[in-house]
Amino acid sequence: MPQIDVPLVRGRFGETSRSDAWWLQPLAVFLGLSIFIVYSTWAALQGNNYHFGPYLSPFYSPLLYGDAPFAWFGPDKPSWFPTFLPFSAAMLILWAPGGFRFTCYYYRGAYYKAFWSDPPNCTVGEPRKSYLGERFFPLILQNVHRYFLYLALVFLVLLAHDVWEATKFPDGFGVGVGTLVLLANVILLGCYTFGCHSLRHLIGGFSDRISASSARQACYNCVSGLNGRHMRFAWMSLFSVGFSDLYVRLCAMGIWRDVRLF
Ligand code: FES
Repeated sequence: MPQIDVPLVRGRFGETSRSDAWWLQPLAVFLGLSIFIVYSTWAALQGNNYHFGPYLSPFYSPLLYGDAPFAWFGPDKPSWFPTFLPFSAAMLILWAPGGFRFTCYYYRGAYYKAFWSDPPNCTVGEPRKSYLGERFFPLILQNVHRYFLYLALVFLVLLAHDVWEATKFPDGFGVGVGTLVLLANVILLGCYTFGCHSLRHLIGGFSDRISASSARQACYNCVSGLNGRHMRFAWMSLFSVGFSDLYVRLCAMGIWRDVRLF
């Protein structure tokens, strides 16, 4: 069995005996997440071009206030919304999927390394001397992830319903490229959400043992299978949700033309 000697002495910041390009992964995470955060914040603040034909951008779904026929409660912004803030329906809902991703176990490990070098990567010297982990404020709040999971499951149902609505064209049932874009997004989001560590614990049984129920064991094995690819689906679904908004937005702006397949 191969062995790697890892010194137990605390090195200086950035010091390591690793000879590989250990900085490449945190750099890629930093760039990927930064691009997504900038784009999604910009798109969420626009408050327009979020639907085209039967397609609704996932950044604005569920659309509580906004354009017909998608809006649940009409076109006007709610009376309780502060008048000094620019209104965008996306701001009312994005905290839920955003919170789910922000507290995701995979993303935590990734952005702790990429955004504040804690640590820069495995076996690379950290910028601080103490390690508090996530047992203290504020990082202990990351434990709220299990509750965001429940919301994420609800959003998954709503986005799946949007795919069904995206087949309802003025002349009847149909499928366009936009329908497939939204469908691929829901599938990837499903693979990401159903591979959640919290769901794995939730569905597996008890805190210290797996349930004896064969149905729950089968579910546990399914979730474990997706969980093993959690990082991959985290990135694929992040890209797909951003691209879905971009697709709808550019079609609504007349820059891209949606192709009706049948
Ligand atoms: S651990 Fe990543 S979504 Fe729950």
